[in-house]
Amino acid sequence: MPLVVDSDTATITSLLEQLPAGSQAVDVLERMHAYLAEHPEEYLLVLGPHLDVAACLDACSRLATSRPLLHVVLVRHDLDALVLGQAMKAGARDVVPVAETGSLRASAERARQVFAALRGEGVAQQGRVVTVFSPKGGVGKTTLAVNLAMALAEGGRRKVCLVDLDLAFGDVAITMQLFPTHSIEHAVGSEASLDLAQLEGLMTRHPSSVQVLAAPTHPDVRERVTPALVAKTLGVLRTGFDVIVVDTAPAFDEQVLAALDETDECVVVATLDVPTLKNVKVALETMDMLRIAEGHRHLVLNRADDAVGLGPEKVESILGMPTAARLPSAVEVAAATNSGTPIVLSDPRHEVSRTVVSTAAVVLGEPLDRPQGQAPGARPDRPVEDSPWPPEERPRGLGLFRRRR
Ligand SMILES: Nc1ncnc2c1ncn2[C@@H]1O[C@H](COP(=O)(O)OP(=O)(O)OP(=O)(O)O)[C@@H](O)[C@H]1O
Ligand SMILES: [Mg+2]
Repeated sequence: MPLVVDSDTATITSLLEQLPAGSQAVDVLERMHAYLAEHPEEYLLVLGPHLDVAACLDACSRLATSRPLLHVVLVRHDLDALVLGQAMKAGARDVVPVAETGSLRASAERARQVFAALRGEGVAQQGRVVTVFSPKGGVGKTTLAVNLAMALAEGGRRKVCLVDLDLAFGDVAITMQLFPTHSIEHAVGSEASLDLAQLEGLMTRHPSSVQVLAAPTHPDVRERVTPALVAKTLGVLRTGFDVIVVDTAPAFDEQVLAALDETDECVVVATLDVPTLKNVKVALETMDMLRIAEGHRHLVLNRADDAVGLGPEKVESILGMPTAARLPSAVEVAAATNSGTPIVLSDPRHEVSRTVVSTAAVVLGEPLDRPQGQAPGARPDRPVEDSPWPPEERPRGLGLFRRRR
């Protein structure tokens, strides 16, 4: 995995956030050489702004001949024309200013594509796995996962699937008013042979364009969905979807752990109550220990306006991480779910919808450029009152309870 070299821990953390999950870091160039010697397949090296520029240029020149496939990016505090010229001459592929977060991300993606092409692999699609997790039940994981998937899909602009890994009691399908004929249960035993076509055959399409891989209908099937199957499923889905959103059970069961291992961005959901915070704190410590989604975790406080005496600032200090988003408690959220059209589609102007859309942008590391209140997928020239559903697929207005009856 890509390697970052810098002597400053905070800089390392911020650079790692822009690189694929699992990227590594060392503090000095000597350790970098040792790491590269052990990783002949490495394709990306990021030299941080606190390293001596002359030493970096020297390393670039040597690597240009000894490791021609290695894409070396120099990160500097300021872009200086002289250093830029020297870096290019020394064989660096890119020089990016430390403040331009998008540039390093783009450079890393280019490096991956070039490396794959040089190895004759073609540029396989590599969708990102976004897992919505909380160790506590009932905090809003499924609600967020469903709305987030729809926001990410932007009415079909991105190919998004939603995998229900709450294998015993998954309710993604019912939340989206889908009645799947197949589920992940039908992939049991196919760990070795599973392919995209087979998985697509097990999915149910929602009118928003999101494809859903539902949980089994019976809780006892859970044991037969092995961690290897979960890992294989997510790996295969990466090759066919831009984003794979995963809803999880409120526990570190072995299937959820397998999903967390494959996760690029983890959305951690908490509410403002002491038992939840205690469990989330323990979960975050466990994730630290297992090195899960380091630098790629996004804390979402749901029902964050509940007057329970714990403010978001206090929560941030308890959990030791900043909040990516705060969703208020709103009766419209449950009402939208019950009426069959999750709030992000039924009421794009609602504060919860707008926050979910901005969370989607944060998770993808993209700028928040959609005007507030515009539906995901709405064209800029289309009024927000319009439904983002194509007319032929517009939901028929049957409420959850009517459908079930
Ligand atoms: N911001 C909110 N405002 C009002 N109601 C909400 C909000 N978020 C979630 N809810 C409601 O809270 C309930 C629980 O939400 P949800 O099913 O998403 O939680 P969960 O974490 O997935 O639960 P479980 O662990 O049981 O799977 C649902 O009825 C949902 O409609
Ligand atoms: Mg749930």
